[in-house]
Amino acid sequence: MSRCSVHEAVSFPQTRTCPLRPPHGYAELTAQGPLHRVEFVDGRTGWVVTRHEEARALLSDPRLSSDRADPGFPKISPRALVVRGQPPSFIGMDPPEHGRHRRMAISEFTVRRINALRPRIEEIAEQAAGRLRAAGPPADVVAHYALPIPSLVICEVLGVPYSDHEFFEDTSRRIARAGSDEETAASVRELAQYLDSLVEAATKRPGPGLIGKMVREELARGEITRESLVSTAMLLLAAGHETTANMIGLGIATLLEHPDQLAEFRADPDVVPGAVEEMLRYASVADTTGLRVATEDIEIAGRLIRAGEGVAIPNGPANFDPAVFPDPDTFDIHRGSRRHNAFGYGVHQCLGQNLARLELRVALPLLFERFPTLRFATPAAGFEPRRPDVNQGLDTLTVTW
Ligand code: HEM
Repeated sequence: MSRCSVHEAVSFPQTRTCPLRPPHGYAELTAQGPLHRVEFVDGRTGWVVTRHEEARALLSDPRLSSDRADPGFPKISPRALVVRGQPPSFIGMDPPEHGRHRRMAISEFTVRRINALRPRIEEIAEQAAGRLRAAGPPADVVAHYALPIPSLVICEVLGVPYSDHEFFEDTSRRIARAGSDEETAASVRELAQYLDSLVEAATKRPGPGLIGKMVREELARGEITRESLVSTAMLLLAAGHETTANMIGLGIATLLEHPDQLAEFRADPDVVPGAVEEMLRYASVADTTGLRVATEDIEIAGRLIRAGEGVAIPNGPANFDPAVFPDPDTFDIHRGSRRHNAFGYGVHQCLGQNLARLELRVALPLLFERFPTLRFATPAAGFEPRRPDVNQGLDTLTVTW
């Protein structure tokens, strides 16, 4: 018997075996306990949290910081956490500075504001369905439907020209999947320069959307620096298109894998909101967000997290915790629980969740209505999982009808 197995660091993040759901390996950890020792890619040891109760307690604990410049911040990826010359966006800030910056953007993401976007999102989805039809069958539903919808919507919310979408989609992808500090820095600078040119234009001529509004208000009043405004715009642009596109793609694939539930989803609009919550739980696309560093010692579940240690609070294991989601491996659109952590929890809970939910509630039913015979063009078993440290999703999904 191994003498060190009890204290051995567990492997995190783990690669998905099926891109549609978090790795099965997490279930074993959740069964063993809520906190586990882990070794991050820089060799530092820290913790990974695998149960829902402790995940929520820690995500709302002010003794955990989101400061990526702290040497103890968990490094789970070969890409850089900070880029010299580019200030952090508010996802990397702690209160009270975090709240001050988040409030500058919040007006565009309230339930009322987002609900007012519904007719426009329906129009955008309808046009995307037309382009998908023109491209096939068969056609890639990610390139022609899942990606263009959130990408065009976030462009309109921010005031970014959609004609530049290939550039910012590609740069955001390169930032997320960078393999070294240098690669991250080069792509971050490219995107920052582009967004700075939009800020520059808005200072000369009032521009539309949130960027124009922040230029006229917070920048003009000296409440934010131009570099910080660019960081906020970068966060919103990247977070605003990629995760939702991933979710639309995985949502389509998951429904196609469950034909009985797809039939109900199609037939009954009242099922749609609950089904979307279940898709968010099941896919847990932003599984490796929720990274923090302890600023003080924290005792929890009989373990001691020491000040300076990194803590990973992924949402996948919490979303599959059987104490909260009985029979978690079963995809069930009637589960009737919104207690998942797919949008995070605590002060950093997703700012765009109302928008993401609305896009999913519009895009998925519309697609299956316009394409009643939609099906996989290639066997589902052929899906390639992504690197474990990035947001999960399908890069392509070929469908036919
Ligand atoms: C299905 C789609 C989405 C998922 C699964 C998702 C997931 C998440 C998660 C898990 C967090 C918390 C990160 C943490 O605690 O470290 C987060 C934060 C954030 N998300 Fe989303 N997100 C989605 C869509 C969006 C959209 C459409 C926007 C629009 C701009 C957006 C903007 C943000 C921002 C700004 C934050 C940082 C909030 C803060 O630090 O206060 N997200 N998201």
